[in-house]
Amino acid sequence: MLQFYLNDQLVRPAHPAGSTLLDYIRYQQHLTGTKIGCREGDCGACTVLVGELRPDAEGQPVVRYQSMTSCLTPLGNAHGRHIVTVEGLSQAAGQLTPVQQAIVAEGGTQCGFCTPGFVMSMTGHCLHGAATPEAARASIDGNICRCTGYKSLERATDRLTAELLTRDAAPKRLPWLVQQGYVPAYFERMAARLAELRRETVADVAARTGGHLPDANDPAVTPPLTYLLGGGTDLLVQRADDVLAAEVQLLYGHAERCFIREQADGRISLGAATTVEDLRSSELLLGRFPRLRQHLKLVSSTPIRNMATVAGNFVNASPIGDLTIFFLALDARLTLQNAAGEQRQLPLRELYRGYKQLNRQPDEQLVEISFLPPAEGEVFNFEKVSKRTHLDIASVNAAARLRVHDAVIQEAHLSAGGVGPTPLYLRRTSEWLSGQPLTPETLRAAGELAQQEISPISDARGTAEYKRLLLRQLLYAHFLEHFPQQLTLAELL
Ligand SMILES: Cc1cc2nc3c(=O)[nH]c(=O)nc-3n(C[C@H](O)[C@H](O)[C@H](O)COP(=O)(O)OP(=O)(O)OC[C@H]3O[C@@H](n4cnc5c(N)ncnc54)[C@H](O)[C@@H]3O)c2cc1C
Ligand code: FES
Ligand code: FES
Repeated sequence: MLQFYLNDQLVRPAHPAGSTLLDYIRYQQHLTGTKIGCREGDCGACTVLVGELRPDAEGQPVVRYQSMTSCLTPLGNAHGRHIVTVEGLSQAAGQLTPVQQAIVAEGGTQCGFCTPGFVMSMTGHCLHGAATPEAARASIDGNICRCTGYKSLERATDRLTAELLTRDAAPKRLPWLVQQGYVPAYFERMAARLAELRRETVADVAARTGGHLPDANDPAVTPPLTYLLGGGTDLLVQRADDVLAAEVQLLYGHAERCFIREQADGRISLGAATTVEDLRSSELLLGRFPRLRQHLKLVSSTPIRNMATVAGNFVNASPIGDLTIFFLALDARLTLQNAAGEQRQLPLRELYRGYKQLNRQPDEQLVEISFLPPAEGEVFNFEKVSKRTHLDIASVNAAARLRVHDAVIQEAHLSAGGVGPTPLYLRRTSEWLSGQPLTPETLRAAGELAQQEISPISDARGTAEYKRLLLRQLLYAHFLEHFPQQLTLAELL
C-alpha cells in the first residue's frame, strides 16, 4: 500500500504510482501553495521537500530532506517518505518563517507565483546545506523568477547564510531550526514516524509475499513490468500520460539499487538508481575525482539532480546525456538483469546502436555500473557547453581520461555528446593519441581526426558547424586544464 507523510498527516493515496505527486498535492489534497508552471522540471514553481530516513554520521536515523520538482516526481516515489509543501512550513497564523521573512525583507517577491518554490528550496538548504553564500545561492539554481531579476533573492540567501552562522553554539541543527521557526515542531517527530512506517511496510510486504523482503523484480510485489521508473525526470517529461495509465516498477531509492562501493579489485560499483546528487556527495568518488562537484554541478539543477538516476541517464539514450559521456570515457561496465533474474555484462560503449536504439531487451533492467577510477598518474576531465550555465542540456559535452608521462600521451580515452545520433566514444582519436608527444601539433591533428568520427546536425542547440568547432575546443580544453605547463591556448589556435 502506498503511504507517506504529507506535511503533518499520514496519507494512503489509491492513485496510480506513475501519476505525479504535484497532481495529488493540488487536486486531491487541495494544497494549492505548490504551483504549476512548466510541468517539465524547469521552473521550480512546484518544488517540495522530500524527506527520507537515513543514518547520520553516528548511525542514528535522521530524516534527510532534498528539494524535488513535484511535477516530475512519480507519486510512488513518495512512498515511505515525508513530503513537505509550503503549507507544511506554516507556523501560527500570519507568522512568516525566517526564510519567508528574508525574501520579504529583500524585496524577493512581486507577483508571488514563484515564491513557494523558492521558499522550499531555501528551507531545504537551511535544513542541510553548508552555511556559505555559494551553497545558499546554489540551492535556488532550479527556481525561475520572472519578476525580481534574482538580485533580491540572492540577497535573501545571503541573509539566511548570516543567520545560519549564528547557530555555532547549537550542536544539532534541527532543534535550532525548530526553535527559530524555520520549520514547525512536528519535524522533530518525523524520524520516529518514518521508522514506524518502514516497519509497517516491511511487515505488510512480508505478509503478502510469504515472508521475504521486497525485490524490484519480484512479481508478487511488483505487477508485470510496463515501465521501469527511476527519478521520472525523463519519462514524466516524455510520456507522462502513458506512465499514468501503466503499471510501473519503482526503482528510485531501492536499497539494492542505491549504493557506491569499492570492490576488492579496485573497481567502483554503483547501484543503477544512484542519483546525480548521491555521486556528487560521495566521499569515495570525491577522493578519486577531485573536481567531481564542479563537473556534476553542470548537470541540470539541484532538484533534478536529487531525482535523476544514473540508469535513467544511460537508458534514455540522449546523445547529450552528461553522465553517459562521463562514464563512456571511464569505460564503465553495465550489469543487466532480465525478468528471469539472469544477468549479463555489457560495456557502456556497446549499449548504443543508433538514435535511441539500445543493445538491451525490453525486460532487461540495468542493476549495476562499475568502472576503474583514474589511477595514479591519470587525469580525468569533463566539459560541457550549453546556452545557460544552469538547468540546460548541452550543445556539446565531452570527457577525457588521460595518462601522460614525460610529455608523451601514454593513453587517451575521449567521449563526446551532441555530435552524433548516440553518445560517442571517440575510438579512433583515442587510439591514435596514445603514444603521441604532448604538443600543439598532436592536439591539432587529433582535433582534425575527431572531426571524421562525428556527424552533428543543426538544431536548436547550434549549427552542425558550431558543434564541430565546440568539439575541437573541448578536446583542447581537456589538455589545457591538466597540462597548463606544457601547452598554452595561443599555441593551439
Ligand atoms: C529540467 C531538466 C533538466 C535536465 N538536465 C539534464 C542535464 O543537464 N544533463 C543530463 O544529462 N540530463 C538532464 N536531464 C535529463 C534527465 O534528468 C536525466 O537523463 C536523468 O538521469 C534521468 O534519470 P531518471 O532516473 O529521472 O530517469 P527516468 O525518467 O526514471 O527513466 C528514464 C528512462 O530510463 C529507464 N530506466 C530507468 N531506470 C532503469 C533501469 N534501472 N534499468 C533500465 N531502464 C531504466 C526508464 O524506463 C526510462 O525509459 C534533465 C531533465 C530535466 C527534466
Ligand atoms: S511545474 Fe515547473 S518545475 Fe514543476
Ligand atoms: S515574483 Fe513573480 S515570478 Fe517571481
